[in-house]
Amino acid sequence: MDREVDSNIQNVATLVESTHDEYNRQRFVSVLRKKVLVDFAKDMKDTYVHKVEPAVTAKEGRKPKDAREIRKHMLHEPVYEAWSSLRYNAQLMTWWSVREPIERKADALIAAGAAAHAANPAGGSLALNPDLPIPDYVSTLDVHLMPGCFQTEFAPEAYDDIQGAMYHYGTQVFSGGLPHRIKGRGGVGTSISNFLKLRYPEFKPQRILDMGCTAGANTFPYLDVYPDAELHGIDVAAPVLRFGHARAEAEGARIHFSQQNAETTNFPDNHFDLISSSFFFHELSVKATKAVWKECHRILKPGGLMLHMELPPSNMTDDYYNFYLDWDAFYNNEPHYAAFRNLDFAKTLEESGFKKDKLEMFRIPNFASTDPKEFAAVAKGEETLRRDHGGGAVWFTFGGWK
Ligand SMILES: C[S@@+](CC[C@H](N)C(=O)[O-])C[C@H]1O[C@@H](n2cnc3c(N)ncnc32)[C@H](O)[C@@H]1O
Repeated sequence: MDREVDSNIQNVATLVESTHDEYNRQRFVSVLRKKVLVDFAKDMKDTYVHKVEPAVTAKEGRKPKDAREIRKHMLHEPVYEAWSSLRYNAQLMTWWSVREPIERKADALIAAGAAAHAANPAGGSLALNPDLPIPDYVSTLDVHLMPGCFQTEFAPEAYDDIQGAMYHYGTQVFSGGLPHRIKGRGGVGTSISNFLKLRYPEFKPQRILDMGCTAGANTFPYLDVYPDAELHGIDVAAPVLRFGHARAEAEGARIHFSQQNAETTNFPDNHFDLISSSFFFHELSVKATKAVWKECHRILKPGGLMLHMELPPSNMTDDYYNFYLDWDAFYNNEPHYAAFRNLDFAKTLEESGFKKDKLEMFRIPNFASTDPKEFAAVAKGEETLRRDHGGGAVWFTFGGWK
C-alpha cells in the first residue's frame, strides 16, 4: 500500500549521515561480518567434520554426543578462536561504526522525533510508562553488545530516541545495508504477513500485536498486507519506542506503540486476532518466555493466531548447528539463548493453554528474496521448501490458534 508521507516531517530513519571515513568503516564491518559468517564458518565446519569428529570417534569409539561436547573439543581449535574473536569484534564494531554519526545528530534526532510525535500525521500513538520496571534480563547487560542496550536514556526529559537510532542504524550495518537508507520493511514481518495472507485468505486480522517490537522494523509490514488493521507494538524500552513512533508518523504508518512488559500487558482478554514477534524470546529468561506465551493465550481472541519467529529449537537441528548457535549465549550477551532453544516448544505451548491439534510451525522463506511462485506454492502447502532454495533466509515460526 502507498501511504501519504508528510514531507514537512524529518524522518529519524534517514536523518543520520556518515562521513567518508565512517562510511568506509561501516562497509568494512559489513564485509567482515559476511566473511566471518560465510568463509570462516565454512572452514570451521570443515575442521570439525574432517579433523575433530574423526579424532573424537577414534579415541572414544563414538561421535561427540551433543553441542556441549562439540564445543569442548572445538574451543581450542585455531579456526574456532579466529572465527569467534573476529565475530565478537565485528559485533562491537557494528555499533561503534554508527555511534559517532548518531552522536553528532543527537539533538536533531531528538527534535525530529518530538516534532513527528507532536504533529502525529498518521494518527498512531505512543504510550510510555516511566514507572515500568525493566526486567533484569534486559537491564543487567548490554544485549548483543549494543552499548546502552535498548533502554538507556541520555535526556529522559526530552524525546530521547537515541538508543532507537543506535538499533536502527546499527542493524543496517549488521545486515550489510547502508545505514542512511530507509531499508524496506523488516524481512520477518514482511514474510510472515505475506505467508499468512496466502495460506489463510479468509483470515483477516483486525487487531494485530507485535511483541518486543524495538524500533518497529518488523511491525510496519503488517500494515502493508492488512492495511485496515489496528496495529500495536509493545516493548519495555522507551527510546526504541520513541524512535519507532517518530519513524511511523513520518512514513504515514498508523501504529500504536506502548511501553509494556509482554509478561503482563494491560490489554483485555480475547483482544487480538494475530500476535507475533521476531527475534524476541531468546533474550528473555525461560520463566519470562513461559509467562509471555500464557499472556498471549489470554489476550488472543478465540479463533485468533499467535505466530512467533525465532531460531528453531535444538531438538529440530543437529548437534553441530546447536554448537554453532550457542555462541551467542556465551559471547553476545544473550545468556538465555541456549536454554530457550532447549525448551520443548510443543509441550510448553500446551502448558500455556494452546491445544495440541491447533499448534503451528512453519518454515517461511524470506519474501523479498524468494521467487514469488515458489513463495506462494510453499505458503499454500503445494510445495515443500527445498533445503537449497535460492531465496536466502528461511524464518522458523511457531505458535497456535486459540
Ligand atoms: C532483539 S530485540 C527484537 C527485535 C525486533 N523485534 C525487530 O525485529 O527489530 C528484543 C526486544 O525485546 C524487548 N523486550 C525484552 N523483554 C521484553 C518484555 N518482557 N516485554 C516487552 N519487550 C521486551 C527489548 O527491549 C528489545 O527491544
